Amino acid sequence: MRVLVIGGGGREHALAATLVRDPEVESLHVAPGNPGISAVADLHDVDALDPAAVTALARRLDADLVVVGPEAPLVAGVADAVREAGIDCFGPSRTAAAIEGSKAFAKDVMTAAGIPTALARVCESAAEVAEALEVFGPPYVVKDDGLAAGKGVVVTDDRARAAAHAQACGRVVVEDYLDGPEVSLFAICDGSTVLAMQPAQDFKRLLDGDAGPNTGGMGAYTPVHGAPDGLIEEVTRRVLQPAVDELARRDAAFVGLLYAGLALTSRGVQVVEFNARFGDPETQALLGLLDSPLGQVLAAAAARGGLADVGPLRWKPGAAVTVVMSAAGYPESPRSGDAITGIEAAERLDGVHVFHAGTTTGPDGLVTSGGRVLAVTATGPDVAAARASAYRGVQRVSFAGAHYRTDIAAPQHPAEQVR
Ligand code: GLY
Repeated sequence: MRVLVIGGGGREHALAATLVRDPEVESLHVAPGNPGISAVADLHDVDALDPAAVTALARRLDADLVVVGPEAPLVAGVADAVREAGIDCFGPSRTAAAIEGSKAFAKDVMTAAGIPTALARVCESAAEVAEALEVFGPPYVVKDDGLAAGKGVVVTDDRARAAAHAQACGRVVVEDYLDGPEVSLFAICDGSTVLAMQPAQDFKRLLDGDAGPNTGGMGAYTPVHGAPDGLIEEVTRRVLQPAVDELARRDAAFVGLLYAGLALTSRGVQVVEFNARFGDPETQALLGLLDSPLGQVLAAAAARGGLADVGPLRWKPGAAVTVVMSAAGYPESPRSGDAITGIEAAERLDGVHVFHAGTTTGPDGLVTSGGRVLAVTATGPDVAAARASAYRGVQRVSFAGAHYRTDIAAPQHPAEQVR
């Protein structure tokens, strides 16, 4: 099969590196990709937000399957256009992707389907926001209704700051605060069947000890310390399957990756958010352990209704840890153009892979070009071993201003408190 992946971050690098191992994948193309991905796939220029341009590229490549990585092309309707052209696409329609693209839509789906989540109000005026902040009390949780590239959520004890964020966003969801550790659970979906992956944990704050601003994610690991027995089955039954069923009922079949961001609260599992695509950087860790042929599984899902015959996903034993190295100034104003060295040395270490995200090739070699620059990932027999290898890899890589957390997947890491 000929596969085209849309995107160019660390997640797409991990997807490409895994797809290329599937014997059924005879050619692999990524658009726009990045310098790391060029080692495993042919790269193509495309405006990933332009449904017609992506469809034209898929036609030109005679692609059998298009896999859309990031959320913005999905919300822009790329998957709809590809499917209308008769090409199978792993990625939800614009309507189904609203489960990530609109927090209010997601809450409506959850309420209709009886999915456990924080109580919330959708607010469109300062008066509605003031009332909701009063009702829910601190810590205040204010979420931009639309996509905001990781900057949409504010959790604060400062009421004025919460109100100011709401005003800056326009339409917001104000909701109750959920305490408890956060777990990400992904499911590959074909519109009706859901195939859950194993849980992973993401570290969203910039600094050790879950301090500092929210980011796109500074690291991840799997399997998760202390995840309760039966979590996958419970979340499939109470969250993933009801969400997919409710979307199908609304004529918005979800074909793609449904990402449930969960809080393990004292009142049980609650949904913090849904995303409509693979998480970044959880995917880099998870795919290191996936034993099933990814291309064949995604193709079965994209063919609508094909997952019933696939059976549960197979996983390699052991653990995987990803440590993100970010650019100076991230997340507010990441600096570009710093020379990167040491990736080859890191990858000579046993089990270490360095996934590119914010990198580009300058006249003198590889340089930084984005906030999250690299995702250094290692597998090992257990979390401690994978963690040690990942940090050995990080030590080999260098660029001016590089930042990384030192407590990714640490034992007794304090449970990250989530919205
Ligand atoms: N790791 C968070 C996200 O992908 O949204």
